[in-house]
Amino acid sequence: MKILSIETSCDETAISIVSVKGSKEKAIFKVLSDITISQIDIHKEYGGVFPALAKREHSKNLMPILKKSLLNAKLSKKLKKQKDLDKNTRRKLSKILEREPEILEDLINLYSQIQKPDIDIIAVTNGPGLEPALWVGVNFAKALALLWDIKIVPNNHMEGHLFSAFIKGNNFKIKREDFKLPAISLLISGGHTDIYLIKDFRKYKRIGGTRDDAVGESYDKVARMLGLPYPGGPAISKLALEERNNQREDKYSFPRPMINTPDFEFSFSGLKTSVLYTIQRIKKINAKEKRGIAYSFEQSVRDVLMKKLEKAIYKYNARMVIFGGGVTANRFLATEFEKLPEITNQKDLKVFVPNPKSSTDNALMIAVAGYFKSFDKLPKNFKAEGNLELK
Ligand code: KG4
Ligand code: ZN
Repeated sequence: MKILSIETSCDETAISIVSVKGSKEKAIFKVLSDITISQIDIHKEYGGVFPALAKREHSKNLMPILKKSLLNAKLSKKLKKQKDLDKNTRRKLSKILEREPEILEDLINLYSQIQKPDIDIIAVTNGPGLEPALWVGVNFAKALALLWDIKIVPNNHMEGHLFSAFIKGNNFKIKREDFKLPAISLLISGGHTDIYLIKDFRKYKRIGGTRDDAVGESYDKVARMLGLPYPGGPAISKLALEERNNQREDKYSFPRPMINTPDFEFSFSGLKTSVLYTIQRIKKINAKEKRGIAYSFEQSVRDVLMKKLEKAIYKYNARMVIFGGGVTANRFLATEFEKLPEITNQKDLKVFVPNPKSSTDNALMIAVAGYFKSFDKLPKNFKAEGNLELK
């Protein structure tokens, strides 16, 4: 079976095509194409993602990526004779792509020139994320599903992030029995800091999360205060690493908000404010001070995340911890997470952290999530939902 997946929830436009062999319980994935176009350079100027711009870029990028993906996967067989689109389908298609008129003609052209690609499922992210951005992907997926009469599967972006921990290279296996339950999952990205309890395969119970800023968001905000480019995660972690290889002095000892509360709640806005006051006090900040601040900030983040994880592992007798989201691209944090079996003295605890490439937004993770979701009872229709919950 082949799956085409589409991801447009934030500032990456991504499409992947995978071939899958298996069942509901286990599957072998082979990546045929995996393309991500990042809009980072466009949003950099604004110091964050600008939703209207993201939407425009997604609609500009999707058709070229689709064509390239079909070529990569060798699913782009030219027709000898052009075929026409009947009036009725054209009318329905124009309705779906009402807000993305630039895609419409280009898509009809493609349809008239190539054979129906050998694709069984279209998986698309329908939330959570920036709603205008999500809609572009959702409408595009619906248009393709209509044109080629292919089954469509809506996906939760966060479930995608969770599955990304199991993506290894271009050929990988995912088995239901790999999930040692109960499991804990920590998903940390630009928009999310959520901790889940998983007692049954693909059943999620949110046990806590941030009350204000997400971890990635606090990296981005602190970076901005230090005059570093968006997204802030890579820039801050680079500076922090320099300090770690150097003095390793937690000179600023920023607060560890909510570290000792008995729940699994987080708060990062106080940490960010504390960094801001420090920067304001220094006035003209030099490179050494920037390194020190980045380091101290990252130590605070580390301590809070690790403490809550430890607590969750003990409380729920977790046998496994699954990480996901852009912030897990941070190698320091990833290494710390991998120490959890030792720290909690649970030698059999399994820890899954995605490879850096799979950490940030991509479409491959949506293909994987879409495969397992395709066995569920699916809704007849669906919409983009900015606040879609993972359950
Ligand atoms: O998952 P993602 O690509 O998009 C969202 O769904 O939000 O995550 C992006 C976030 C940004 O806030 C970015 O600063 C953060 O992930 N990030 C990092 C690192 N690389 C990306 N944070 C810390 N360290 C990194 N190396
Ligand atoms: Zn994401």
